[in-house]
Amino acid sequence: MTAIYEVRGNVAVISLSNPPVNGLGYETRKAAAAGIAQAENDAAVKAVVITGAGKAFSGGADIKEFGSPLALAEPNLLSLIGVVEACSKPVVAAIHSVCMGGGLELALGCHYRLVSPGAKIALPEVKLGLLPGAGGTQRLPRALGVEPALNMIVSGEPVNAELLAQVPGQKLFDRVVTGNLLEEAIAFAAEVADKRPLPRVRDLKARHANPEAFFQFARNTVGAMSKNFPAPLRCLEAVAASVNMKFEDGIRAEREGFAALMVTPESKALRHAFFAERAASKIADVPDSTPARNIAKVAVIGAGTMGGGISMNFLNAGIPVTILETKQEALDRGVATIKKNYEAQVKKGKLKQDKYEQRMALLSTTLSYAEIGDADLVIEAVFEEIGVKEAVFKQLDAVMKPGAILASNTSTLDVNKIANFTKRPQDVVGMHFFSPANVMKLLEVVRGAATAKDVLATVMQLAKKIRKTAVVSGVCDGFIGNRMIEQYSRQAGFLLDEGCSPAQVDRAAEKFGFAMGPFRMGDLAGNDIGWAIRKRRYQEKPGLRYSKSADLLCAMGRYGQKTGAGWYDYAPGKRDAMPSEVVGQMLDKHRAALGITPRQISDEEIVHRLVFSLVNEAAHLLEEGIAQRASDVDMVYLTGYGFPLWRGGPMCYADTLGLFNVVQAMKRFAKNPLDDAAFWQPAPLLARLAAEGKSFS
Ligand code: 3HC
Ligand code: NAI
Repeated sequence: MTAIYEVRGNVAVISLSNPPVNGLGYETRKAAAAGIAQAENDAAVKAVVITGAGKAFSGGADIKEFGSPLALAEPNLLSLIGVVEACSKPVVAAIHSVCMGGGLELALGCHYRLVSPGAKIALPEVKLGLLPGAGGTQRLPRALGVEPALNMIVSGEPVNAELLAQVPGQKLFDRVVTGNLLEEAIAFAAEVADKRPLPRVRDLKARHANPEAFFQFARNTVGAMSKNFPAPLRCLEAVAASVNMKFEDGIRAEREGFAALMVTPESKALRHAFFAERAASKIADVPDSTPARNIAKVAVIGAGTMGGGISMNFLNAGIPVTILETKQEALDRGVATIKKNYEAQVKKGKLKQDKYEQRMALLSTTLSYAEIGDADLVIEAVFEEIGVKEAVFKQLDAVMKPGAILASNTSTLDVNKIANFTKRPQDVVGMHFFSPANVMKLLEVVRGAATAKDVLATVMQLAKKIRKTAVVSGVCDGFIGNRMIEQYSRQAGFLLDEGCSPAQVDRAAEKFGFAMGPFRMGDLAGNDIGWAIRKRRYQEKPGLRYSKSADLLCAMGRYGQKTGAGWYDYAPGKRDAMPSEVVGQMLDKHRAALGITPRQISDEEIVHRLVFSLVNEAAHLLEEGIAQRASDVDMVYLTGYGFPLWRGGPMCYADTLGLFNVVQAMKRFAKNPLDDAAFWQPAPLLARLAAEGKSFS
C-alpha cells in the first residue's frame, strides 16, 4: 500500500505514503487513483483531501522508474491527475514540506490547495534535463501568472510557499495554514463540500499583456544561459503554449516536449548525476545508522590558501573555527584574505552585512596548540612536506581531546603514514578540499587503513552541512581525482610532441565542454606544481614516459599566470591567454630534437585520448577498491575538475559511447609509437565489461 485511505467525518483523506519523499511511482499512483474511486463511490463522503505522509507532500514522479515501462503504466501521472480533476467531489491538496515536480502537478489538478508555511514548491524537472510533463507547464502559468511560472519552470529552483501566496492575483494557494494542516484541510473540505462548480485550474486563462515581446526576450536570455542544455528552451516553449493554445493542445505540446527530452543524452547525464550524488554519500560497510560524532567546534592548522578557504566553509555553516599558525603575520594575512572574500560577496549583494559580521564573530586565531585542544575536528592545511605534517600531527595527538577527529588536507602524501604519527590512527582521515576551498563543491574523503567507521559517517554528514559533495577515496598517490588527471596531463603532453599547439588541445577540450583545457588549467594552477610531481615520478617510476615539453617550459621560468607567462603569454594584470610565439618555437625545437614530423590531429582524437585516459585509470581505481563505484568517479570530475555536466562525467560518457568502442580506440592509441602503449592496455575491469557488452553503470 503506497497511499493510505481513511474517512474522517464526511471527508476522505488520501495520504501518499511512499518514503522517503512520496515519489509518485506506479504503486502510489494506483493507490491514489483507487482512493479517489473509493471516495466517489461512497455516498457518505462529500469531499477529499490529498496529503503526503512523512516528510514530504511529494517529491514528484519516481525518477527511478524513468525509462522503464512502469513510468507509463496506467494510471500514469497525467491520467491520475485527470481522475483527480474530474472527481465529482471537491479535492483539496494539503501541501507541506516538499511539493515538487509531479507532486505540484498533482496538487494543481486538485480543486483547492492549502499549504503550510515553509513548504518548498518547485517544478525542478529542468534540472533533470526535462520539462514538467504532467500539466505543470500549462497549469502553473494559469494559477500563478505567466512570468513567475516561467521563472520557476526554467530555473527549477524551489520557492517558499508564503512568497508564492503573496503573488498578486495568484490562484495557486487558497490558504496558508499556520496551524495543523491536516485538521484545517479536513475542515476546509467540509466547508466547500457542496460548492459547485468545482474550480479547475485548467479553466483559468494564462495571460500576459505582451506575450510576443515577453517570450522573445525570454528566449534570448534563456537561450544564452543554457548552451548545451536543450531543456530550458523547451520549457519556455511549453509555457508559451499555455498562453497561445487551448489547454488540451498545450498539454499535447508539453507531452511531446517531455518525451523528446527524456531520450536526450543531456537528460540521461543529469539524471545520472542526480543519483550519483546521492550514491556518493553512501559507504558500503558504514550503514546510515552509524552514530556520528558531534562537531560543534573546528580548528584549522595553517592560514594559507587552503586553510582560509576551508575555514570559511564552517563559518558559513555557523560552526566556530579557530585557526592556528606559527606566526602572527601569517594569521593576519589569512584573516585578511577571509575578510576580503566576504567583503567582495557583500559588495556584490550576495551576503548581507549582518551575516558577514556573524560569520567573522565565529572566527578566532591562535599561535598556541593549548587553545585548540577542545575542538571536535581539526583540519591540517600546512606545507605539503611530510616532516611538517609529522610535527603537526604529533602536537595534535598530544593536545586534542579524546574522540576529536584529526583530518589532513594533504593532496599527495600518504594518509596512513600521517595517521601513524599519532597514537590514534582510527581518528585520522583525509579531507581533501579543492582550491578555492570555499567555492569548489568537491571534498575527497580519504579513508585510511585504520579510519573508524563513525569518523567516516561524521565527515560524510558534515560535508552535507557545509554543502560539499563528498566522495570517499582509498589511500593512493593522488587519490581519485589527481591520480586520474596525471594520465590526462601525460596525454596532453604527448599531443604537443606529436604536433598540436597548446591552444589546439585546449580548444578541443573546451569545445567538448571542459571548463578549461589542460594548458590553460596548468597556467592557472601553476606549472611548477606538475613539475615537482614529475621530478618525483622520474625517481619513483623511471620507466614511465612523459613529454619533456612541460619541463622545458618550466625551465624557462614560465610557471603560468603567476609569472605572467606559461603555455600562453599574459598581458600584465590580465588573465586572457594569448598564444605564445616563444612556446611555439620551443615546441618546434623539441620535436625536431626528437626527430618528430608534426602531424594534424583531429579534435576527436584529442578529446578521446584525454577522456579515455581518465576512464582507463578510473577502471584501475575501481578494481583496486580506491573508488567505490564508477558514479563516484563521475562526481569527482563533475564537481572538482570542470567536466561537462551534460555529459555526466567520464564514466557516464564512456558508457554512452559504448565500452566496446572505447576499448577499440585504446587499442588504436596503443599502436602510436609516440604514445604509451603499456598505459593503453585496457584495465582488466574495462576489458571485461567491454567484452561482456556491459557498462560501468
Ligand atoms: N523519485 C525517486 N526518488 C527520489 C525522488 C524522486 N522524485 N526524489 C528524491 N528521491 C530519493 C533520493 O534518490 C534519495 O534516495 P536514497 O536515500 O536511496 O539515496 C532520497 O529520496 C532522499 O533524497 P535526498 O537525499 O535528495 O533528500 P533531501 O531531503 O535532501 O531532498 C528532495 C528531498 C528535495 C525531494 C530532493 O530529493 C529532490 O530535489 N528530489 C528531486 C525532485 C525532482 O526532481 N522531482 C521531479 C521529478 S520529475 C517529475 O516529476 C516528472 C513529471 O513532471 C512528469
Ligand atoms: P600555503 O603555503 O598557502 O599555506 C600553508 C600555511 O601553513 C602557511 O600559511 C604556513 O604559514 C602554514 N604553516 C606551515 N607550517 C605550519 C605549522 N607547522 N603549523 C602551523 N602552520 C603552518 O599552502 P596551501 O596551498 O594552503 O596548502 C596547504 C595544504 O593543502 C597542503 O598539504 C597542500 O598539498 C594541500 N592542498 C592544496 C591545494 C591547493 O590548490 N593549494 C589543493 C588541495 C590541497
